[in-house]
Amino acid sequence: MLYRLIYASEAAGHLTPDGVQALLVTARRCNRLHDISGMLAFDSRYFLQAIEGDRQALSNLYGNLVRDTRHKRLLLLGFEPIAQRSFSDWSMGFAAADASGRRVYLRHGASGRFEPHQLNAPAALALLNELSQEAEREAEGKAPSATPA
Ligand SMILES: Cc1cc2nc3c(=O)[nH]c(=O)nc-3n(C[C@H](O)[C@H](O)[C@H](O)COP(=O)(O)O)c2cc1C
Repeated sequence: MLYRLIYASEAAGHLTPDGVQALLVTARRCNRLHDISGMLAFDSRYFLQAIEGDRQALSNLYGNLVRDTRHKRLLLLGFEPIAQRSFSDWSMGFAAADASGRRVYLRHGASGRFEPHQLNAPAALALLNELSQEAEREAEGKAPSATPA
């Protein structure tokens, strides 16, 4: 049965863009092997990640994630059966949760900041969905120009 796990965490030290890239390369390779899809958002301090796939595979991966010293303060936001994947196109999609996402955070959180530990599972999923759609548009070269405030 298909499940989705969502968690928030905080980077344990300074993660360089190269460090994040290396993390994504491993994650994507392992996820393809285990038929896991998902989405990761990172703002240089906090992570928010959804992983989707077989329940045992997700549980094993979460065990790895808890032991991974690159991040800390892991908070499990949700682990539930799902009818279909939300991120089927991504072995691991990625969004830099930077200032340009402020509009999106305001819609999905209490503050305009990226504070994934404050979110419940539905809000976290909605935020990741929106970030993944933006990432997809960017990948297709159709990023909408900035809208006036
Ligand atoms: C924020 C973050 C996200 C990660 N996402 C994944 C992932 O989606 N899939 C994956 O296999 N590893 C991911 N990793 C790496 C795992 O923690 C772990 O290093 C990897 O599963 C290999 O584990 P192993 O060396 O014990 O086999 C992530 C690590 C961090 C810090």
